[in-house]
Amino acid sequence: MQTHHGIHTERPGQSAEDKIIRHLITASGYVSGEEIARELRISRTAIWNHVNNLKKNGFRIESQPHLGYQLVALPDKLLPALVLNGLKTDLIGRKIIHYARTTSSNDEAEKLARTGEREGVVIIAEEQTSGKGRVGRVWHSPKGKGIYLSVVLRPQLPPARVSFLTLCSAISAAEAIHRSAGLRAFVKWPNDVLVSGKKACGILTELATESDRINYAIVGVGINVNQEASDLADLKMATSLKIEKGKEVSRLELTRAFLESLDSNYALILHEHYGEIIDRWLQVSATIGKRILAESLSGEKWEGVATGLDEDGCLLLRLDNGMTRRITGGDVSIV
Ligand code: BTN
Repeated sequence: MQTHHGIHTERPGQSAEDKIIRHLITASGYVSGEEIARELRISRTAIWNHVNNLKKNGFRIESQPHLGYQLVALPDKLLPALVLNGLKTDLIGRKIIHYARTTSSNDEAEKLARTGEREGVVIIAEEQTSGKGRVGRVWHSPKGKGIYLSVVLRPQLPPARVSFLTLCSAISAAEAIHRSAGLRAFVKWPNDVLVSGKKACGILTELATESDRINYAIVGVGINVNQEASDLADLKMATSLKIEKGKEVSRLELTRAFLESLDSNYALILHEHYGEIIDRWLQVSATIGKRILAESLSGEKWEGVATGLDEDGCLLLRLDNGMTRRITGGDVSIV
């Protein structure tokens, strides 16, 4: 694995190493090299070479003469073969590309989308050297600590409704954090996911539009999973799941849980069930009913009580003069 050379895995038609990983994961004890060689129709020497490669990648595999190979431990890496093992999705993750290190998974996804990649492809990075946040901010992406992934989508959505992509991804992240780490997570309009009132996840949706349609959308999700307090020291109001839970959280299980939630919530968008997205969002909202300060990209400020979302997913704010103001973008903070 090298910078800018991703490991690609598609379902079906996986690489020999992916198939060996599957064999080793599903076996309860030793699997003979001969058996794997027969099934993959390659030589036992080839299997041996692949196994050595897997060991270099952090798989702990024991080999015993006459018995074969046994998997002892998996690497803490979001390798496609591991993420795909047991993943229950239709569309999201039908192809997964993994980078040990890259500038930004959104940029990698963008390059693919621009050259016609189908929707559902997921780019995962262990480390990002220029992780991007919203409004030109940096997203700190230390190696192996967080989840940094991007999904290529091609929704047939009117551009006015694009906020639904971000809302849908935020709900999915909140659901996944709850399901897989057991922590209650709430969504803060438009794109943050909070645990104990602090930001644990952010979403950056980037769009390519053509006249009145979306050509593609890149949904980039960053989750602070196993960061220590010292990793977040210079970030105000940020937290990680490990800090909140008091112990490590499996990035692998959380990644799968997120992709599965996104798969079912994105299907709601494809079926135009926007009302259902709004309902789900309201159920996990940290914003509604709170007094908030909204600041537009041009610097305008509005303070009031968040009362709901409109049919385009914009935030409705009741100002102190009784008027309702529709917030379409920018930043929101809870006062
Ligand atoms: C924000 O809250 O400002 C959005 C943060 C989004 C970060 C993710 S990490 C994966 C993807 N690649 C990026 O460069 N950014 C997004």
